[in-house]
Amino acid sequence: MAQPILIEGLKRLEYRGYDSAGVALLGCDGIKIKKTEGRISALEDILDKPEVCETFGIGHTRWATHGAPNSINAHPHIDYTGKIAIVHNGIVENYNTLKKWLISEGIQFVTETDSEVIAQMIGYFYAKVTNGQDDQSLNGQNKFEWAVQRTLRELHGTFGLAIICSDYPNMLIGARKGSPLILGIGNNEYILASDAAAIVEHTTSAIYLSDNEIVTVALDGFHTTTINNVAVAKDVEPIEFSLEQIELGGFEHHMLKEIFEQPESLSICMGGRLNRQEHRIRLGGIEKYLRELTRTKRLIITACGTAFHAGLVGEFLFEQLARIPAETEYASEFRYRNPIIEDGTVVISISQSGETLDTLAAVEEAKERGATVLGIVNVVGSTIARATDAGVYLHVGPEIGVASTKAFTAQVAVLTMLAVELGRRRLISTAQADKYITELSLIPEKIKKVLEQSDHIKEIAQANIEKNNWLFLGRGVNYPVALEGALKLKEISYIHAEGLPAAEMKHGPIALIADGMPAVFIATSGLQYDKIMGNIAEVKARGGRIIVVATEGDKEIMKCADHVITIPDVPDLLQPMIAVVPLQLLAYHAAVLRGHDVDKPRNLAKSVTVE
Ligand code: AGP
Repeated sequence: MAQPILIEGLKRLEYRGYDSAGVALLGCDGIKIKKTEGRISALEDILDKPEVCETFGIGHTRWATHGAPNSINAHPHIDYTGKIAIVHNGIVENYNTLKKWLISEGIQFVTETDSEVIAQMIGYFYAKVTNGQDDQSLNGQNKFEWAVQRTLRELHGTFGLAIICSDYPNMLIGARKGSPLILGIGNNEYILASDAAAIVEHTTSAIYLSDNEIVTVALDGFHTTTINNVAVAKDVEPIEFSLEQIELGGFEHHMLKEIFEQPESLSICMGGRLNRQEHRIRLGGIEKYLRELTRTKRLIITACGTAFHAGLVGEFLFEQLARIPAETEYASEFRYRNPIIEDGTVVISISQSGETLDTLAAVEEAKERGATVLGIVNVVGSTIARATDAGVYLHVGPEIGVASTKAFTAQVAVLTMLAVELGRRRLISTAQADKYITELSLIPEKIKKVLEQSDHIKEIAQANIEKNNWLFLGRGVNYPVALEGALKLKEISYIHAEGLPAAEMKHGPIALIADGMPAVFIATSGLQYDKIMGNIAEVKARGGRIIVVATEGDKEIMKCADHVITIPDVPDLLQPMIAVVPLQLLAYHAAVLRGHDVDKPRNLAKSVTVE
């Protein structure tokens, strides 16, 4: 019986989070689908008793990318004939075009998702080939396989797919492009999954599909081809990790895994939103507020902790790119200070968990005063997400480490995209907007180059691990990055650290500089480079130890710094997403070297739902 194995497997993927879940079962009488919004337990509540004849099935937990988290948009999706069901991980970037074409062919869609396009297109081609309208290119594969291959060649974007067809009750097809897919090979059983965590309790033998490969599983075994039906030989490999390790993806801590996930998480966060063809940025969740945002007289950004630091970056960008007055307020302060919210003010609340009580209270305060309140949230369906008028989801998957990392860079990415879009609607040229859109799309690859320096950064942490007081200094859009670096170090290594505007040092804090005190400067190329070089000289002259985040190729900085971490060159306003990564790693390594529980630091919780 497939059902209990599917449910157990979905629970194993629970750590990745979900906003809805579902299964489709095959083998008794066509395809039976059960799906619902919410937790896996909500799905279990609506399931029928498992049946022995249900030998094949597919299941899914969803992180909504396109379409609200509800039972209609939940996977599996079924085609118009009712013969094809699919579950999909990834983003179909050309789903709008394909959907319009399928609608023109008379197909009616029932969901808001991009994934439904895949089910409908397979159903469309399967109907054609079974009606003899398009079978001249059948070359050894069956009609189900042919329809799948024909569809996948049309898709742009990423997919990890599991597909069933009611005409083939003992067959399952999997396909992969950019989203992992593994076939577990057990004793007379096969389990296809996006993550070995769902397989490892059944078997430790698997094949790992590569991009543009398809696997067909049947009662007599499996075979693999490309999406062009070219046979591919795959080696059966051992799954060497324990379940715990798998959930960590082979990393020692969730925080390190999440730091290293940032190229992928930012690609997903920005994917489908950077629309170069239309020279614009699409933030679907707030599309209907863009007109109001374009005309707003003032933006108030409210958040806590790391989200507050992201808000400070956003404040700078809204003023630089769109010339919209903006201010960032600690939610805990905003809620009690009888805030002035005049007509034309829009409030933006930022929260990874969507459950921070102070931020929720600030949202309620702003709404009571008549403001439009928008959210930038990671956890889909969370309290703050539901309390705001509209919002943008980060889509970076659950952030398990208490110290926020991938959520910060995604929050900054969303704020940057919004600032560019508002700038394009107000004053910057299409060419300038295009440049930012192109530069944003290059950020994930550039972060990979910073991650390669993790061992070097560990050495820097080691060299300074005995120091109990650090300064973090930056200017302009990198000042909030200095604050974020200080917070990261404090909250997991318990080393006291303070973030400051670099120029502010001479107004008091420079008195702290004593022999060997670490001072971390974000000294990347940009408008205030010479000024920050002057600040570095002030600290060096007083015996401070200079650690800098600099732009690749900067030879000047090498002469005055004790330690240098380089980042690839990017336009000034886009530096925070990259400049923060060295500081995340510095804090991580310092905490590990000090022997602390990186993922669950003392006194802290992942979501602060108390005052
Ligand atoms: C960040 O590393 C901290 N864990 C904390 O400051 C956090 O950012 C803050 O509590 C806000 O949480 P939220 O984004 O879930 O609202």
